[in-house]
Amino acid sequence: MFVKEVTLRHFRNLGCQSVAFCPGVNLIYGKNAQGKTNLLESVFLLSCPKGFRQGRERDYIAFGEAAAKVLLRYQASGREQTLELSLFSDARKSILLNGVPIRKNGELASQFCTVLFEPGHLDLVKEGPEQRRHFLDTAISQLRPKYQSALESYSRVVAQKNMLLKKNAGFSSGLPEMLAVWNEKLADLGSYITLQRGSYVRKLSAAAAAHHARLSHGRETLFVEYRAFCGAPDEGLFTSLSELRRLLLQQLEQALPLEIERGMCMVGPHRDDMELLIDGRSARLFGSQGQQRSVVLSLKLGECELVEQTVGESPILLLDDVMSELDRARQQYVRSSFGNRQVLITSCGRARFSKKAAAFLVSGGTVTRLEAPKEDRPCTGA
Ligand SMILES: Nc1ncnc2c1ncn2[C@@H]1O[C@H](COP(=O)(O)OP(=O)(O)OP(=O)(O)O)[C@@H](O)[C@H]1O
Ligand SMILES: [Mg+2]
Repeated sequence: MFVKEVTLRHFRNLGCQSVAFCPGVNLIYGKNAQGKTNLLESVFLLSCPKGFRQGRERDYIAFGEAAAKVLLRYQASGREQTLELSLFSDARKSILLNGVPIRKNGELASQFCTVLFEPGHLDLVKEGPEQRRHFLDTAISQLRPKYQSALESYSRVVAQKNMLLKKNAGFSSGLPEMLAVWNEKLADLGSYITLQRGSYVRKLSAAAAAHHARLSHGRETLFVEYRAFCGAPDEGLFTSLSELRRLLLQQLEQALPLEIERGMCMVGPHRDDMELLIDGRSARLFGSQGQQRSVVLSLKLGECELVEQTVGESPILLLDDVMSELDRARQQYVRSSFGNRQVLITSCGRARFSKKAAAFLVSGGTVTRLEAPKEDRPCTGA
């Protein structure tokens, strides 16, 4: 799939304008604080309505305005399609897919897919499990219609159970019975989330390992393992929802006295992690900076391949200022992996990029397509 044109209305500092992209590499460049990331974000938002920067949805609306709109014209499933997102300052929001309202975020899964790689992702190995869970959840939500809503319901139930545990510090009568009701819900939702994450990581491990082997010239082996409440279970378990549910409920029941003592929910996918191993050793604890960067790069390229396997089309690759963070060899590797994918890439300078890329200058929120010399023209636009 590829974006033909994005039309913006009061989106952050980008004002009201349309930008037509080409199906290949699109370089978005300009000085700091001009709107490069905002442009990428407007495209990303339609694949993942939660966005990638901290903050509330109304923060996307230009300061002083009451509403913002992003209209995307894109090619997917062999035809032109549209996605339109409207955000209002009173927190209302609407999404239209080909003019038809979308009721749940999940309905967007597989419709329009992006893979984002930004400097923050380079900490994916070093940081805590929350970042790795977020990486998995964003990737799976784009592919599985039910996943996002299961995740939201699960978080709500965990919050409600935590509230109950805090209010009733210590063993009070009736508490175990009330908790049992929440545990049933947690087991339903949690087993589904674990199953989806476990099977995603199994496929991701194979795809990322191939990239890591190439990046390390065959010297290192990457293995990605999902660490669930039930440890790092064998493959069979991640295909059996009922067995996962039974195990989760059992562990929740066992953890009851500890949860009452600590006043919080201690078991379930909200505490899971993804272990990244180079030659069997933790990349977080033993990997060098360079090895850790190769792991993240391999995960991101693996993510692209899983979209292609599941959806049958290439995602749009969004690279936000990430090239300058990579050394030459890794930059070269990223470029060689572009293939037929559409790439939107931001950078402060134009110099290091091929003349074949379509170039857009962003200045003070205005995006201007720069004409390449005739013989270098990569495409004619939309
Ligand atoms: N809701 C908003 N309304 C108006 N302007 C906003 C809004 N949100 C952010 N901005 C402004 O948009 C500007 C551009 O931000 P952006 O992150 O896109 O910059 P950038 O070109 O990617 O810069 P850098 O090279 O530093 O990453 C910032 O100066 C920011 O203050
Ligand atoms: Mg930026």
